[in-house]
Amino acid sequence: MYRLVAQFFAVGREAERILSTLWHNANVATMCDSNWGMIERGAVITNGSNIVWVGREQDCPIAHLQQVTTKHNLGNRLLTPGLIDCHTHLIYGGDRAREFELRLEGARYEEIARAGGGIRSTVSATRQAGDEALFESACQRAQQLMRGGVTTIEIKSGYGLTAHDEARMLRIARRVGEQLGITVRTTYLAAHAVPPEFDGRADDYIDATNHWMSALHAEGLIDAVDAFCEGIGFTPLQTRRVFERAQQLGLPVKLHAEQLSDQGGAALAAEFSALSCDHLEYLNADGIQAMQKAGSVAVLLPGAFYFLRETKLPPIQQLRDAGVPIAIATDHNPGSSPCLSPLLMLNMACTLFRLTPTEALLGMTANAASALGLGATQGTIEAGKRADFAVWNVAYPNELAYWFGHHSCAQIIVGGVVPETHREQSHD
Ligand code: NIG
Ligand code: FE
Repeated sequence: MYRLVAQFFAVGREAERILSTLWHNANVATMCDSNWGMIERGAVITNGSNIVWVGREQDCPIAHLQQVTTKHNLGNRLLTPGLIDCHTHLIYGGDRAREFELRLEGARYEEIARAGGGIRSTVSATRQAGDEALFESACQRAQQLMRGGVTTIEIKSGYGLTAHDEARMLRIARRVGEQLGITVRTTYLAAHAVPPEFDGRADDYIDATNHWMSALHAEGLIDAVDAFCEGIGFTPLQTRRVFERAQQLGLPVKLHAEQLSDQGGAALAAEFSALSCDHLEYLNADGIQAMQKAGSVAVLLPGAFYFLRETKLPPIQQLRDAGVPIAIATDHNPGSSPCLSPLLMLNMACTLFRLTPTEALLGMTANAASALGLGATQGTIEAGKRADFAVWNVAYPNELAYWFGHHSCAQIIVGGVVPETHREQSHD
């Protein structure tokens, strides 16, 4: 027996030793401070899926180096935390290219929605699509994001709007994470639109979605709960009922707030200690103050702002002054932001919203992690955090927001491993 136990521990120690990796000859933007947390000529040591040491290569402690069994020379390239896309609607059927044309001809996003198009048209295409088609297309989109440096993705439901179809979306979201080996956080967004079966009965629909929420939570499918609080979505009162149920179940909330009008959604979400309030073009001063007190992250979505040709900017300076952390995401969805380029979002965050390049990158790393409740484990390169990185063919991190239409991600590292499908990419 003793021999068996001793062998077991020996194997354990061996495994630990085998998995220790040195990533060196890199300029490391740890994102631990507002100046990129830059370490020139840096190195990182990982053990399994975690970071155990980061610093200047010449300072690597001997004790750690002795454990290292694999070395990766990063060729003096830039290493950052893996990007985190903290707001996406990645799973859906069909597309809305025709709606795009209609909008260019003068139709407004709200008009199309009120006429039964918009979200509802994607709901009908999603209900008709089979599980495998939804899974395959979502995997392709996720891989596209990964090629752009993303290692963590939030995926919302909200195009099913029946118990069955919302469950399908959430299960598929979990499968995408398992298939690609990346972190996927699921968000339950049944309160996205009133489906045709509940026409004129939004309150009854909220009752139904609250009922489904309990069952889906019991199945372990929900990491957070979201709603669309808007004239074409749900009222603050209906949103409050969604949040009350989430609170009863111990689930964190977030909100599509103040995208097209000021509904006081951010202040309401802050009452429930929301992880984040997202969009925020019409956010007012009370909302900012409430978010600051609650510690909610402001997730800004320049892709939707751009694609809907909005003109009202989120109150960036006021958010800064109040010290509200700002995150940036693609908001990938077929209606308001069919974008799969995280770097383009960094660029637009700077050009359209006037963020600094440092603020933009913090928005897709450290602050995006906080928006998902993952601040303790992801978003920066620090000992103890997950070994999720992106390696870039640029010299300095401000270039990530500077070039646009470029594919400068050389590779990603997910949990200490370079995924098979993402080795030294070439983009022709
Ligand atoms: O984040 N605003 C609500 N939801 C999405 C758009 C969904 C759609 O148009 O299909 C958004 O912009
Ligand atoms: Fe969204």
